[in-house]
Order: sequence, then C-alpha cells, then structure tokens
Amino acid sequence: MTRFDPKQLRNALASYMTGVTVVTTRSTDGTLVGFTANSFTSVSLNPPLLLVCPGNHLSSFDIFAKTTHFAVNILAEGQEAVSNIFAGSKEDRFSQINWTPDQFGCPLIDGAAAQFTCSLQNRVEAGDHHILIGQIEHYQASTKRGLGYCRDGYFSLSKERQSEAAAQGEQKFICGALIEYQDQHCLLREPAGRYLPAVELNNRSGARTSLLDHFNGLGLKVRIGPVYSIYDDVENGEHVTIFRATLLEKPALDEVELRTISQLSPDDFSRPVNADMIRRYREEHDHNQFGLYVGDAVRGEVHPSGGGGDGGKSATF
Ligand SMILES: Cc1cc2nc3c(=O)[nH]c(=O)nc-3n(C[C@H](O)[C@H](O)[C@H](O)COP(=O)(O)O)c2cc1C
Repeated sequence: MTRFDPKQLRNALASYMTGVTVVTTRSTDGTLVGFTANSFTSVSLNPPLLLVCPGNHLSSFDIFAKTTHFAVNILAEGQEAVSNIFAGSKEDRFSQINWTPDQFGCPLIDGAAAQFTCSLQNRVEAGDHHILIGQIEHYQASTKRGLGYCRDGYFSLSKERQSEAAAQGEQKFICGALIEYQDQHCLLREPAGRYLPAVELNNRSGARTSLLDHFNGLGLKVRIGPVYSIYDDVENGEHVTIFRATLLEKPALDEVELRTISQLSPDDFSRPVNADMIRRYREEHDHNQFGLYVGDAVRGEVHPSGGGGDGGKSATF
C-alpha cells in the first residue's frame, strides 16, 4: 500500500523530462500490440541493452509479460499523433500509422527518430510494472530530433530554439508565390535549376508589397491573390508565406519558365520547396478549391478559404 497520493506522486515524477517511445510486439497468434512509453532507458553499450516498463494497467500487458521480442520506436518531433494513438486509441492502432515488421514481426514505425529490435534479456517484476530488459539485435537511426515530453505535454527542441531565435530577431522572413499564367505556372530558372519566385523580407510586415516590388523589379506584371500557406521552416530558421498570384502578361524574361500544373513537381526545384504544399496545390487546383495552410514544414492545418480561383477569400498577412 502506498502512503502517497498517486496523482501527486505521478505529477512529481512527471517533472522529469523525457523523450517518447512506442513499444510494440507481436503475440504468438500474430496479434500486434503497442503502447506509448516514456519509461525507456538505455542501459548498456556492451552488451547493447535497453529497458522499458509496461504497466499492468495495459490491455496488452499479458502479451508483453510473455513476449520474447519487442521493438522500441523513439518518436520524432511531429509524431505527437502517433504517441496519442498508442496512448489511448481504441481502434486498430496499426491501421492508423505506417509501419513495417522487423525480423521478429514486431512493428517498426515509419518516420521514427530511431527504431530498436530487441530480444528479451531479462524481465523483472517491479510493483505494478514489469521492467523489460531488451538486448538490441538490430537498430536504425536517423538524424531526426526526438519528440520531448514533460508534465505539461509534448515539446520539440526545434520549436523551442526557433522561438528563441525569433525572440532574438534571428528568424528570416521569406515570402513567395505560386504564380499562374492562364493554364500554366511560373517558375524562375537559374544556372543551378528552378525555384519558386520568392524574396527575403526585413521583417514580418509588408509581405504583399515587398513581393510585388520584387516582381516589378524582375519585370513581371503580377496580381497577388490570397495567402496560400504560412509555415515555419524550423531547419532553416525561416518563416515562410506563400501567396497565390496571377501573371497579367506573358513574361519576356528568359529566366521565367512556364509549366502546366501536371508538370509541377517538388523534385524539379533546385532550392528546397515544401513538397507537401506543391502536392496539395496540384490536388486543389484540380478542384479549383484552395485552402490556407498554417503550421510548420511538416505539420499544420489546412483551413478552407471559402472559394475557388482568384475569387477566393483573401487572408491578410
Ligand atoms: C508520454 C506517455 C508515456 C507513457 N509511458 C508509459 C510507460 O512507460 N509504461 C506504461 O505502462 N504506460 C505508459 N503510458 C501510458 C500508456 O501509453 C497507455 O496507458 C496505454 O497506451 C493504453 O493502452 P491500452 O489502451 O492498450 O491499455 C504513457 C503514456 C504517455 C502519453
């Protein structure tokens, strides 16, 4: 019997900041199970050992208590949804994510920062949890940063750093446009390849005017339409705003290349573009119904803009 209030004790322990993992296994009858865990600890390099602690409250506890193999997926920044699925979803968890089986059939989650395939080295019963010590048989690591967790919820180091950089005025403000000309789209060409017309601003305000000045300077007669995408590119420390725009006259510039929508591919840009944005643009263009994306380079929300074509509601920036 504990003499502590369990809620208060849990709160006190939760002030220890951790990463987030999803631990998975496959039962002898082929059932796949997994749960979100921050009880993960690296234990030993030689031999390579790690541990996780499944609690007896888990619906999958009996399976984990008998398993001989399991996988630990260290979630990457941006995988909060995956963590939430494995911490609570009552639906089939594995149909909601992309994964591949490891050599023992345990699910490895796509996009994780690192994945470890383990055979059980030891199991220790410890109060209402078991400690599973796994010998690492195989692992894969990426350069992605891990997702963080503490009492207040998830956190991302990139976002923390980004807001720090913004506070210190280090963030760059980039604004660009997806420019239509009749049924075609306008890219700029430079010796190294093609890029989406864009300009760096001195500060957050006046994006529309600065972009127009930039296009005028290039000799492009452009009407700037609604904002299409606003996102933080954490890796490059950039706050990016992309407008939809219309070219009013066929450009005489050699640097301007016109492409049909079906030819617009994220792979053709020499400077990185947000590939998801180009894909969304192609889809929405087919339905002439455009949304407004607000988020970061990997995660965000598309808000309906209330109309198609150039008549869409203009979001102000
Ligand atoms: C960030 C986070 C960390 C967690 N860590 C653990 C853990 O280490 N061990 C555990 O048994 N449950 C842990 N949980 C709770 C389980 O993930 C949750 O109770 C479980 O997925 C519920 O699964 P079930 O519906 O199959 O019982 C954690 C939850 C979260 C959100």
